[in-house]
Amino acid sequence: MGHSITLFNKTFVPFISAEAIKDKIKTLAADLTRDYAGKKPLFISVLNGSFIFSADLFRELEIEAEICFIKLASYKGTQSTGHVVTAIGLDINLTDRHVIVLEDIIDTGKTLHQFLPQLVNQQPASLKIAVLLHKPEAQQYPVNIDYCCFTIPNKFVLGYGLDFDGLGRNTREIYQLSE
Ligand code: XMP
Ligand code: MG
Repeated sequence: MGHSITLFNKTFVPFISAEAIKDKIKTLAADLTRDYAGKKPLFISVLNGSFIFSADLFRELEIEAEICFIKLASYKGTQSTGHVVTAIGLDINLTDRHVIVLEDIIDTGKTLHQFLPQLVNQQPASLKIAVLLHKPEAQQYPVNIDYCCFTIPNKFVLGYGLDFDGLGRNTREIYQLSE
């Protein structure tokens, strides 16, 4: 794998390789292709962090599917602010749809725990959560995760869409804060 990167005086070391990410996304796409064949599911990608994960996953699906985007934010630097803001809302009706939410990472779980009831209110036919990363040790709010690519320790990560104060999203691998 590549070299460490430094952002705002913090060092990040290579953690998950581009190949490992690609493999997991292929497996997830195959699982979703099997589980949602004939159901015309609607994927809801949570911006900003999920944009690369969502694009790579969506491109691997071999079924008819729709995707739309919402923007939620609760992070500043390497700490969750605990305050979830809807910056861009939903513009599609979910009633009777098979919905899959795509998230880059479940950390404390607060973002999805707060947001999911809004989706449930619209009475989708089904509602599942697919995440790239999950930090079980950090989770404080219950969220049912149906599909997960990687379970990781409670350390800040960046790359492959995830940022540190806006930077670091444009890498093919995922990095971990070194301490
Ligand atoms: P919660 O705590 O609500 O966090 O589950 C979800 C959102 O916070 C961001 N997040 C991270 N971003 N490295 C990042 O670059 C991390 O280690 C990290 N942990 C949480 C992310 O946007 C996620 O959607
Ligand atoms: Mg983020």
